Amino acid sequence: MNVRSNFVLPRSTTSPALAAIAVALLCAVGPAGATGDVARGQTLYKGCADCHSIAENGVGPMHKGVVGRKAGSVAGYDYSPDLKKSGIVWTEENLDKWLAGPQAMVPETKMFFDVPDAQDRADIIAFLKEKAR
Ligand code: HEC
Repeated sequence: MNVRSNFVLPRSTTSPALAAIAVALLCAVGPAGATGDVARGQTLYKGCADCHSIAENGVGPMHKGVVGRKAGSVAGYDYSPDLKKSGIVWTEENLDKWLAGPQAMVPETKMFFDVPDAQDRADIIAFLKEKAR
């Protein structure tokens, strides 16, 4: 299937935003593994599951909808004051930074776990994006 054929944009409506969406869609159907491997991320997520789950709060807050979510915003979870007032939004970039070292990003956070390997982080984030929507 040629994805490009779905994008017949009259010249007058072609905007950078539409172009960005088109690029994003083209990337989404591009070769797997360019950003992160969901299946591998799922396996790696077992390390997170000591404290987290997708749908329920535990030692850590639930991860449902975490990609794009505001930090410290899950109702009923008792966050550290610092994370709550951090103003962070969990973009993929911020998640990568967070997983590399939560304390470097939010010094008083109560998450003590990090993922030193960049590919591991990318795979975990791909998993969250796909399965924790
Ligand atoms: C040892 C327990 C533990 C492990 C393991 C752990 N976390 Fe956490 N996580 C926490 C705690 C506790 C918090 C809340 C931090 C705070 O309030 O400062 C948290 C917070 C988070 C947040 C912020 C969520 C929000 O709602 O703002 C994200 C994202 C996150 N963890 C992702 C992960 C991922 C992904 C993994 C696995 C790679 C992981 N965590 C492993 C305990 C853990």
